[in-house]
Amino acid sequence: MRCIETCREDFPALHQTVTGGHPLVYLDSAATSHKPRSVIEAEARFYQRDNANVHRGVHALAERATEAYEGARRAVARFIGAPDPACVIFVRGATEALNLVARSYAQPRLGPDDEIVLTPMEHHSNLVPWQMVAQATGARLRYVDLLPDGTLDLPSYERLLEGGRVRVVAFTHQSNVLGTINPVREMAERAHRAGAVVVLDGAQSVPHQPVDVERLGCDFLAFSGHKMMGPTGIGVLWGRRELLESMPPLFGGGEMIREVGLFESTYNDVPYRFEAGTPPIAQAVGLGAAVEYLESLGMERVRAHEERLVAYALERLGQMPDVRIYGPRERGGLVSFNVEGVHPHDVATILDQQGVAVRAGHHCAQPLMRWLDVAATVRASFYVYNTPEDVDALVRALEAVRAIFGAGATPR
Ligand SMILES: Cc1ncc(COP(=O)(O)O)c(C=O)c1O
Repeated sequence: MRCIETCREDFPALHQTVTGGHPLVYLDSAATSHKPRSVIEAEARFYQRDNANVHRGVHALAERATEAYEGARRAVARFIGAPDPACVIFVRGATEALNLVARSYAQPRLGPDDEIVLTPMEHHSNLVPWQMVAQATGARLRYVDLLPDGTLDLPSYERLLEGGRVRVVAFTHQSNVLGTINPVREMAERAHRAGAVVVLDGAQSVPHQPVDVERLGCDFLAFSGHKMMGPTGIGVLWGRRELLESMPPLFGGGEMIREVGLFESTYNDVPYRFEAGTPPIAQAVGLGAAVEYLESLGMERVRAHEERLVAYALERLGQMPDVRIYGPRERGGLVSFNVEGVHPHDVATILDQQGVAVRAGHHCAQPLMRWLDVAATVRASFYVYNTPEDVDALVRALEAVRAIFGAGATPR
């Protein structure tokens, strides 16, 4: 087991000074995480030693590359508790995974009498594809209500399902803005009783807590490699085999075929049916190494570490009278907030001048911003390599914001 307290040493990018010579305090892992040396080296090693295309060549390098690529698939399957690695499809990221389900699973099945249930806390990647499906099929989008603390109003979810028209329920496991962790198992059970399939956006949960698709009971799970210490350009769609087998491929070409004629073709088995063209091989290898690294920390311990950090951050920020925090107390490892009277982009810029990297903006969740009645928020998001000292640095930097703008400045 790798010790979380010392794991920061494994991340080369964290050991640098930035703007004005300040040591970097990286609090933007919800946007993308840093990579441990083992991931960077696995990808470099692949190019230095094994580089070849997969599933085609019979030469030594092609065999090694194929084994590395399929080994990564097995590692990902193990990581999410999926018994069958063939149900792990490599895509470019959570966005592509969600679009694949929407386009390939939902669009051919839905019609004007059907409904798709979403929540107002979704990332645009889990909204826009469903809007496209609704436009193409006439299906109706329905939304679960939010309670004032930013958790889901489950009775309103029940009521939506009672209508008997819901075919798909798509929601995030963990909000990238509020940190809300949704009760997936209960929601999935209820959806299944109503005859709907459950599409889970795990972009913010798979990197941060134990996720087991069997235990959660979802039908599809989408997530990205780059938010879980892996490379960019790689992500995963996991699905139940019978559902994946019933879906037509989205892209044609390469390894996704079985037999090609001049006028029609037959398609390969899952997962290859969905992996047209040369896949992101080195990225998959890097993702496999990221999985191994996270396993060496232990996902229960990753979650516990972030719970401690976020509790400390809520306590410290809660003592600042002009900092408004959004979202529930029980949450994943991030805090969205605003400083009264100061635009979030100004806050983020001043924090950056002190080496503290946060995200400011709508976080690709514009409907949620409207619900919060703000244009944007500042978001500090944590990962295993963050420490309570990083929270202290954030608070110190916020004191500087208050000093520049005047504490308790009136909203502009
Ligand atoms: C909750 C959530 N879903 C989906 C995505 C999209 O991930 P990607 O841009 O890696 O496809 C993100 C990224 O911020 C996210 O936070």
